[in-house]
Amino acid sequence: MTTSMSNRDLDATWKYHNGTKHSYTSVRVHPHFLDWENKPLLFKIYPTLEVARLPKDFRQTGVSALSAIANPGVAAVGEQIPTFEELAQFLYFSAGVTKSKKFPGGETFFRAAACTGALYEIELYIVCQDLPGLAAGVYHFGAAEFGLRQLRAGDHRRHIIEATAIDSSVANSPVIVICTGIYWRNAWKYRSRTYRHFGWDNGTILANALAIGTALGFSTRVVVGFSDDRINTLLGVDAQKEVAFSIFALGHTSELPGAAPTLTPLVLPVVPYSNQEVDYPAMRQMHGASSLAGDEVNRWRERRPLVPAATTKGTLFIDLDPIDAAELPADAIEQVIQRRGSTRKFAREPISVAQLSTILDRATRGIAADFLPEPGAQLNDLYLIVNDVDSLTPGAYFLHRDKKQLELLKEGDFRSQAGFLGLEQELPADASVNVFFLADLHRILGMFGNRGYRAAQLEAGVLGGKLYLAAYAQKLGASGLTFYDDDVANFFSPHAKGKSAIFLVTLGHSRQSLM
Ligand SMILES: Cc1cc2nc3c(=O)[nH]c(=O)nc-3n(C[C@H](O)[C@H](O)[C@H](O)COP(=O)(O)O)c2cc1C
Repeated sequence: MTTSMSNRDLDATWKYHNGTKHSYTSVRVHPHFLDWENKPLLFKIYPTLEVARLPKDFRQTGVSALSAIANPGVAAVGEQIPTFEELAQFLYFSAGVTKSKKFPGGETFFRAAACTGALYEIELYIVCQDLPGLAAGVYHFGAAEFGLRQLRAGDHRRHIIEATAIDSSVANSPVIVICTGIYWRNAWKYRSRTYRHFGWDNGTILANALAIGTALGFSTRVVVGFSDDRINTLLGVDAQKEVAFSIFALGHTSELPGAAPTLTPLVLPVVPYSNQEVDYPAMRQMHGASSLAGDEVNRWRERRPLVPAATTKGTLFIDLDPIDAAELPADAIEQVIQRRGSTRKFAREPISVAQLSTILDRATRGIAADFLPEPGAQLNDLYLIVNDVDSLTPGAYFLHRDKKQLELLKEGDFRSQAGFLGLEQELPADASVNVFFLADLHRILGMFGNRGYRAAQLEAGVLGGKLYLAAYAQKLGASGLTFYDDDVANFFSPHAKGKSAIFLVTLGHSRQSLM
């Protein structure tokens, strides 16, 4: 249930977080077997609504992926109104179906952004003013048909502006994208851990959205603070099953929308995802406890700057040494998103310090988001296990983003530990580098309340998505991974003492691309 004061009841987050940790013991004591007959449909489909197909003859931006992901955002000035064609391009490269693969049992449709289990539980909705080629309305993005279905006619942006306590980027956006998560679609495989996946899987989509939005010349911003009930009501979603997770402002206009139209309840059939759905109440409790209402959204907008985390004194610091601008791979963002696909097997081959430095530097130059008040601020810290990077001593490292330096925490061959930490999978043992995201949740929850948990997971997903793009821009491979929570924090301690493991991305040479 959503209660207006629960955002400050931090026990709710700790209960969810601790209750969904993986460990060597937990995966053995609580094994989960997949019910393939009941696998959820990968798409949300409103069968009674007509679909307006989106065009695919995109104008190439010519902007390199490495520059698009590093750009902290186009200035929000003047009139930046996406056309129908530009909106189509934005949606395709954020969350469209980019590949399909036939398997003996059927066909799988892969999307622009990586997603846990390829289950694609994040849905996108568009709320826009009149655009060249598209009437004002509330639309659902149908990835299956690559089209839009209109849920409401007319300009409804005022509802979102009010729901965000007048976030300035939302107020001046001709196009507002709302991302929701559908619990069952991911919980079929991952049970209660799915609420973390909402952040990761929404984050990888937003990494693409930030990059393609920027390449198209639009101002972009991620917004996490909003009244949940108002947004869910606008979309007409059943909040027991599907919930708004983030908002994305695209473009800029100086004209603000008029009064908010009255909302009638939306009663629209949706094609069932499975024969039966299993409910995991822990996620709904976490969602309710991190929901905002009324004055809480105003307080979110008034937040104080992030207090920088304390740093330790290390002994060995290595400067990042990225590839020279003139030598940087220039593949356009569209090409890189189109060829991205998680590495299924790494070759045990080294990557260069320049490649690693370029990935880390480009992916961490800042995210335009309402939970990051200052440019360059970040909720998550990056810790590395370096298995095989030319001229870098194998070992555990901490990234000092401000100084663009890696600090050696401990030297050693940690391949087998990396494999163990990444849920006993081969990928982290074989990868050249493992990038772990750890966050001081005590500090984050203290500042933001439970909503900070959503922000921390989402930010890790965005940064992880950027790591993917930075790797693929250099024709390297990457994969997101899950992990043994406390073992990760212990591995990087004492440096990481008190922090929580949030996410993991592995980097290296895909075995396929070397063949
Ligand atoms: C947050 C996240 C966690 C993931 N965890 C794993 C994992 O533990 N093991 C694995 O083999 N792949 C993992 N993947 C990769 C997904 O399986 C992959 O993204 C999905 O199958 C879609 O394929 P694609 O990325 O090639 O488009 C993860 C991806 C993401 C985004």
